[in-house]
Amino acid sequence: MRIWIASDHAGFLLKTHLKAWLTSKGYEVVDIGTHSEESTDYPLWVHRLAQSFPPEERGILICGTGNGVCMTANRYSHLRAALAWNAEIARLARAHNDANILCLPGRFISSEEAEKAVEAFLQTPFEGGRHERRISQINQLSI
Ligand code: RB5
Repeated sequence: MRIWIASDHAGFLLKTHLKAWLTSKGYEVVDIGTHSEESTDYPLWVHRLAQSFPPEERGILICGTGNGVCMTANRYSHLRAALAWNAEIARLARAHNDANILCLPGRFISSEEAEKAVEAFLQTPFEGGRHERRISQINQLSI
């Protein structure tokens, strides 16, 4: 399983750190960009990732707060993006929400905490059951 990763300028340093860390752990990382700390617009990088991302794989999106990339990602029906700032929230994003994209707040999380969140995100299976029903209701706007 490949790990797709993208960020804006505010997430660039954490993206660089996580890419090296994931590669050292044996993961294949697909780095969409951005490629420097030069100011850029976060939606661009989410759209670029979304255009090629297979939903059964895993993605990590990073901006300053994590909110901009998360809002953009959730415009796509094949992305289920969850904002997390610690390992427990990342674990629950998989176990309860079946998230395939983890959004991280690059300006508000240490690299150590981000590693723990990513590890939990990658190791945790979806629990199914009642959570399957709830996920199916997300797009039922008229219930
Ligand atoms: C960039 O300054 C910042 O607005 C962006 O990284 C992100 O936090 C937006 O949600």
